[in-house]
Amino acid sequence: MSIDYRKELNGLEPYKPGKPIEDVKREYGLQRVVKLASNENPLGCSKKVKEKLMASLDDLAIYPDGNATNLKEALSRKLDVHVDEILPSSGADEMIELISKTLISPEDEVIMADITFPRYVATTKIMGGVPVVVPLKDYTFDLDGILSKITDKTKIIWICNPNNPTGTIVTEEELIKFFDQVPSNIIIAYDEAYREFVTRDDYPMDSIKFVKKYPNILVMRTFSKAYGLAGIRVGYAIGNKSLIENINKVRGPFNVNSLAQIAAITALEDEDFVKKIYKVNLEGKNYLYEQFKEIKLYFPPSEANHIYVNVEKDAGEVFIELQKRGVIIRPMGGTWIRVSIGTLEENKLFIEKLKEVLGK
Ligand SMILES: Cc1ncc(COP(=O)(O)O)c(C=O)c1O
Repeated sequence: MSIDYRKELNGLEPYKPGKPIEDVKREYGLQRVVKLASNENPLGCSKKVKEKLMASLDDLAIYPDGNATNLKEALSRKLDVHVDEILPSSGADEMIELISKTLISPEDEVIMADITFPRYVATTKIMGGVPVVVPLKDYTFDLDGILSKITDKTKIIWICNPNNPTGTIVTEEELIKFFDQVPSNIIIAYDEAYREFVTRDDYPMDSIKFVKKYPNILVMRTFSKAYGLAGIRVGYAIGNKSLIENINKVRGPFNVNSLAQIAAITALEDEDFVKKIYKVNLEGKNYLYEQFKEIKLYFPPSEANHIYVNVEKDAGEVFIELQKRGVIIRPMGGTWIRVSIGTLEENKLFIEKLKEVLGK
């Protein structure tokens, strides 16, 4: 007899992460491979975090603090938010799942952009919800388009700012105008995974004030990008107490492992590390912009640690050809690729190989 899986799984594909370096080395017999596919931190993580983790390996027989008390307190002090308004998670990925599990019943509508981070649509479908997709306008969130799709069934609106993969932003002024028009029973899940890389001063750097003003806004952040801790899995949400209490009901008992808690607390204390990656990212971005302009490739300006580029050739083919030459990027469909900004050396190698592949 065949197994009767939940119908929500029909047509779902497992998430396709950026291809691992070791796989590409093996497949093509390469010595050196550069991965610019998952928006990771090219500097690794803070040295202080590494040292603290090495000194914490004796406690692994003990379960983590399920409440992540020390991490919540560290975040509370740093962000001036009450501990009851903070919920740590195993990466922002887990938070996306938890939000969906907390709010979506079958047939509920969830509004998101196209194109944006794919886990919003996947977790909506897993819960039996209906994704309502609003195309980007000029590579940026179409907030009026989103407002026009709100119905009595709308449960969540996902806003990714800066957006993955386009790196584009919506400004503070645009957001406030938008928030004021969204009915207060709809949760706005506001994903700021790339906030630390933003250079524009019309970006809402202080999103905590939104949480204080609007009880239906949930801000999500991660230690995976600017803090260089993607491998250890830690992120968090900030929202009003009742929202956080409800999300906490669906959370597993030890969702953030003990090393992740220690890493995050230590990372928060090392602001110099974040300043350093901000600078490296900006320099890398300017270098890549110049190069793309020289070879006449269009890209929307990015405020994140990745750039969305139209290579005017099949992106899947460009992905394979770059891979053969030891560079992993992300094909995004059609003629678009997304490249993460690396160190200067990595960026140069990418450009050299891209020119070769495109015959430029
Ligand atoms: C917009 C966005 N949100 C969330 C995530 C998940 O991040 P994490 O590593 O914290 O799970 C990513 C990862 O790439 C992302 O791009």
